[in-house]
Amino acid sequence: MEEMKKGLEGVVALDTKISFIDGIQGILMYRGIRIEDLVDLPYDAVSYLLINGKLPDEAELNEYSLKLKENRHINCKLVDFLKDLSLGSEELDGLRTAISCTAHFDEENNHHTVDANQNKTARLVAKFPTIVAALHRGSHGLDVISPDNDLSHGANFLYMLTGRMPTELEAEAMEKDLILSAEHELNPSTFSLRIAASTLSDMYSAVICGLCTLKGPLHGGARKGVMDMMDEIGNIENAKDYVLGKLERKEKVMGFGHRVYKTYDPRAKIYKDVARRLAIENGDTSWFDMAEEIEHILYHEFVEMRGKPIYPNVDFYSAVVYKYLDVPAELATSIFAMGRVSGWIAHCMEQYSDNRVIRPRAHTI
Ligand code: CMC
Repeated sequence: MEEMKKGLEGVVALDTKISFIDGIQGILMYRGIRIEDLVDLPYDAVSYLLINGKLPDEAELNEYSLKLKENRHINCKLVDFLKDLSLGSEELDGLRTAISCTAHFDEENNHHTVDANQNKTARLVAKFPTIVAALHRGSHGLDVISPDNDLSHGANFLYMLTGRMPTELEAEAMEKDLILSAEHELNPSTFSLRIAASTLSDMYSAVICGLCTLKGPLHGGARKGVMDMMDEIGNIENAKDYVLGKLERKEKVMGFGHRVYKTYDPRAKIYKDVARRLAIENGDTSWFDMAEEIEHILYHEFVEMRGKPIYPNVDFYSAVVYKYLDVPAELATSIFAMGRVSGWIAHCMEQYSDNRVIRPRAHTI
């Protein structure tokens, strides 16, 4: 029997063309393009890139964006169902159920042709934000807001969530957030999705596997963990005692550390810059200052004192961005999923196109 690697650490499970990570140098590429060169594009263009393997030209982008806009609406029966469903349930649980319902409304759900999968792709990418916003408003007794097709993917989400037009910077921040969340090689949710796809299960089922895995606090749930932690700390003066207390009790500080990155996560750098700009626009830099203080304390404790390469990951400054966008913490994982769905679909298609069922062995002890 082969040696067992706990947590599959360092195990290479498959080949992919979708993304590349150099965890030592802090490089992340989608389809061979560095994330820093993608982050100023519209989310629609990056979604197209991940799914189709190349950046769209102008006509292709217009066509893809139009297809997404045409698919933003959700079935009115689903809207009513979401209003009842969302009362008292966790937002991500509601999203998972809503995606499952959407599959029932999709006549092509169990059709596995390339055309059917392209149609399902547009439906999934387009409907995620509408569902997340509808679930949230429904659970707070607010009217559900219809999509505004004059707005970008990210700006439209903020509008449907809050009922107010986002500022230019808020809209930019949301688009960047979705791009930075869109793809990350064989992370836990993508791996679980690829296992489902490898059994030739349908795209909706595979995406639901991704959602269920993203939920955990050691994965996508960490973003909510950071927002809760910032609320708990309250102000910058409390940061040091709080963080040192966590380390003494051997508890994890959410938003730090990574299985692959042993340096600063390149996404965290971009989020940090967006968070700083939002703080300035808001005229209140206290969340940003507290986050930077936590970063400094942990750099001293981990890197300088213990020689451990533990830096902010994608979830740390994204949580600060959400604070400034006034996004409730319960929504953080669902919004992460709104971005990640493009990467998940790309992996689903890649698995279908060159499939072998994923079935490892266990060491019986
Ligand atoms: N706070 C305190 N200690 C930490 C942290 C942290 N955030 N991250 C790692 N360590 C310590 C850990 O206690 C262990 O110490 P020791 O060797 O003394 O036992 C060592 O560093 C290695 O940690 P590990 O948990 O064995 O490493 P891993 O590769 O299994 O886990 C991780 C990676 C991301 C799960 C972990 O760093 C962690 O739990 N971080 C906090 C949760 C978080 O922010 N998750 C988001 C991950 S990135 C985005 C995503 O996937 O969604």
